[in-house]
Amino acid sequence: MQQTVLIIDLGAQYTQLIARRVRESGVYSEILPYTTDIEEIKEKRPVGIILTGGPDSIYNENSPKIDPALLELGVPVLGLCYGAQLIASLCGGKVDRAEKQEFGKKELERIGESELLEGIEDGNTVWMSHADRIERLPEDFVITGKTDACPVAVFEAPDKKLYGIQFHPEVVHTENGSRILENFLYNICGVSGDWSMKDFVKTQVEEIRETVGDKKVLCALSGGVDSSVASALVHKAVGDQLYCIFVDHGLMRKDEGDQIEAAFSDMAHFIRVNEEDRFLKDLEGVSDPERKRKIIGEDFIRVFEEEAGKLDNIDFLLQGTIYPDVIESRSASGETIKSHHNVGGLPEDFDFTLLEPLKLLFKDEVRRLGEELSLPENLIYRQPFPGPGLAIRIVGDVTKDKLEILREADSILREEIAKAGLDRDIWQYFAVLPGVQSVGVMGDSRTYDQLIAIRAVTSVDGMTSDWARIPPEVLERISTRIVNEVDHVNRVVYDITSKPPGTIEWE
Ligand code: XMP
Repeated sequence: MQQTVLIIDLGAQYTQLIARRVRESGVYSEILPYTTDIEEIKEKRPVGIILTGGPDSIYNENSPKIDPALLELGVPVLGLCYGAQLIASLCGGKVDRAEKQEFGKKELERIGESELLEGIEDGNTVWMSHADRIERLPEDFVITGKTDACPVAVFEAPDKKLYGIQFHPEVVHTENGSRILENFLYNICGVSGDWSMKDFVKTQVEEIRETVGDKKVLCALSGGVDSSVASALVHKAVGDQLYCIFVDHGLMRKDEGDQIEAAFSDMAHFIRVNEEDRFLKDLEGVSDPERKRKIIGEDFIRVFEEEAGKLDNIDFLLQGTIYPDVIESRSASGETIKSHHNVGGLPEDFDFTLLEPLKLLFKDEVRRLGEELSLPENLIYRQPFPGPGLAIRIVGDVTKDKLEILREADSILREEIAKAGLDRDIWQYFAVLPGVQSVGVMGDSRTYDQLIAIRAVTSVDGMTSDWARIPPEVLERISTRIVNEVDHVNRVVYDITSKPPGTIEWE
């Protein structure tokens, strides 16, 4: 059976990071809200439990608490920050407001022997961020680390397998933080550390086969990383029972539709519907960005429904929901705060059971899974691409001619960024056609032609971003090639606006 470490979320900002660190150490981890019933926790048979930090104070009446029975399962428990204070408090210690908040880098002073701190030297830098502190430890616990402002920075009761750390080993500012987490996992929980993507594929394939049986699965394949990897995984599990519909709205980048088709053409039921004419006709003369989005969204649903209607007896709808979507949808107390729809606006009256095989994976793990399933790199490392495609990168109305210009310019940009080895460092990079004409000179003649804007941004989640510092010589090559190779373009500009106040897309 797969070894699992449970992370009990008490409202910490770093919960996902802890889960990732554990998985990076070769151990499967799952996040559960602190309200999870103890029986559900037991059923998961965890080999270790980590209690996260959280912004509240233990002594506040409504602050997150756990069932004390969790500390008596005989399973090692590590509490971090608030989680550590919770252990101390539930075992009979005292937590109170500290005289002074402790925030930032501190030096750890070690006290005595500790399996948890094996290999951690005196003076190791640790990252603190707390206003409360443990005033009195429960009986049977010993202090194994302190800082100048925090007399109980690390404490433990090895016989009870309970451990607490006031600082944050999961953040990079804590020197050797991963070593401390690994000490907990390997020395204390005794994990084997052999969780890998290969195992994930194996267990998921078995699970999907069992769930789906001999029924059919439908997928709206967009060519994005998540829906592509989800489709490849389900195809490996149930083969011809998977039906993938790829709606080509004619607003994709150069050759993209063909690349998606090539990657999935060995599927018996890969259905590509080329609907460029329909989308362009409906977009004719429309320049308002939100109306463009709406038209594209509605056309997409209509086409998808038409195609799906041609298939009989579909029971499952495959969606590429990933872990951050699931976690974002749930607060620490387990309530749903936002629902996510990965396939933009599918009709609500569809009577399918959802199949979400990626829902426990982080984005980089989805990419590794894609590699394990031998998907091509251009799909696995595809940059985020908006559902409405190039239509929102053409300012104003969309025509076939404009799409042609934009596609060529964008293709050159992508080629040069890849050649310069920058393609994995830049979050999104693309060309925009603002619909502005300007005067230029080519050879001996005056031109009055189109402007191309280059947008390239760095970001971690698309919510905020900064313009990418592309070396001038790379920008120069991009500009020269676009002006020389793309008809009707005589000028290239680089967008140096961050988000906020700008957005990543121009529309
Ligand atoms: P903005 O332009 O709002 O974009 O800074 C943030 C991220 O969202 C993408 N984006 C969209 N994705 N449909 C999508 O599926 C849309 O209508 C849409 N608009 C923006 C954008 O590419 C960036 O990654």
